[in-house]
Formats: sequence, C-alpha cells, structure tokens
Amino acid sequence: MKMRKSGLFILLPVLAGTFLLLTAFGPFSTNSTGEVPPAETITIPDDIQRIFDKSCFGCHNSESTSDKAKKKLLLDQFTELSKVKLIGKLGEIVETVENNEMPPEKFLSKYPDKALTDDEVKRLKEWADKTADDLMK
Ligand code: HEC
Repeated sequence: MKMRKSGLFILLPVLAGTFLLLTAFGPFSTNSTGEVPPAETITIPDDIQRIFDKSCFGCHNSESTSDKAKKKLLLDQFTELSKVKLIGKLGEIVETVENNEMPPEKFLSKYPDKALTDDEVKRLKEWADKTADDLMK
C-alpha cells in the first residue's frame, strides 16, 4: 500500500515534466498564446514592388520630404515591421487604394501617370488581404 502511493508520486511529476518538455520544445511547440506560431515575415513579390515603386515609394520612404507620409508608411522598412503592425498597415493599404485615396489626388493631377490602374488596385488589394490573412493564421 505504502509502496504504490509513493510510486505514483514519482510517476506523476515525471509524466508532467515530459509533457511540458514536449510542448515547449517538441514538434507541437506553441507560442505564449497557445496557438501554432504563424508566419513571422513577409516578402513583397516583384509585381507588387513595381506597383509600390511607381505609385507610392516616392512619398513613403525614409528619405521622403513628406513627414506626414513617412509617419504613416515606410515602404523601404515595411517588411521589418512587427507582425501586429504589418497586419494593421496592410489593412490601411487595402482601405486607401479601395477608396482611391492613394496616391493623393493633388499629386495625381501633376503626375497622372503615377495613378494605379484598375488591375494594379486589384492586385495590390489581393496581395495585402492575403498577406494579412497568412500573418493571422
Ligand atoms: C504624393 C505623396 C504620396 C504618394 C505618391 C502616396 N502617398 Fe500614401 N500618404 C501620403 C500622405 C501625405 C499621407 C498622410 C495623410 C494624412 O496624414 O492625412 C499618406 C498616408 C497613407 C496611408 C495611411 C492612411 C491612413 O489610414 O492614415 C497609407 C496606408 C498610404 N498612404 C498608402 C499609400 C499607397 C499604397 C500608395 C501608392 C499606391 C501611396 N500611399 C502613395 C502621401 C503619399
């Protein structure tokens, strides 16, 4: 009787320890929220980069003379953003291009060739939506 009890006292912590080790370092390792870790980084495909370069980069880069544009979006450092910020900015990109807010109208009246074509709006939106989705998985 005495023997069985103490045996259980040894076995239980060992089992618990094994379980903890497996969940922490094993193939099923999880992050602090208990979910499978999602993708941490993104890459910008060439066709999307070309759209950014043509219509957005001039204002949204760290050397830009527009402080307002810089504060909102830095395309040269975009992929270095934290996951949470990336998801937020991708959503803002979708919103601005959907509502024809970017590039700004004033700018387009001077440089009409920088306007996004319908196809570019579509591709940009699809990419941003999908990338944000993947980050949230
Ligand atoms: C002529 C300069 C210029 C160009 C070109 C430009 N932007 Fe902007 N963008 C701005 C400025 C200025 C702001 C800040 C507006 C404000 O603070 O009200 C801004 C803000 C934004 C924001 C943040 C909007 C928000 O919700 O606050 C996003 C996202 C954005 N731009 C995306 C783009 C994208 C995508 C392109 C290319 C398709 C683009 N911009 C092209 C000047 C530019």
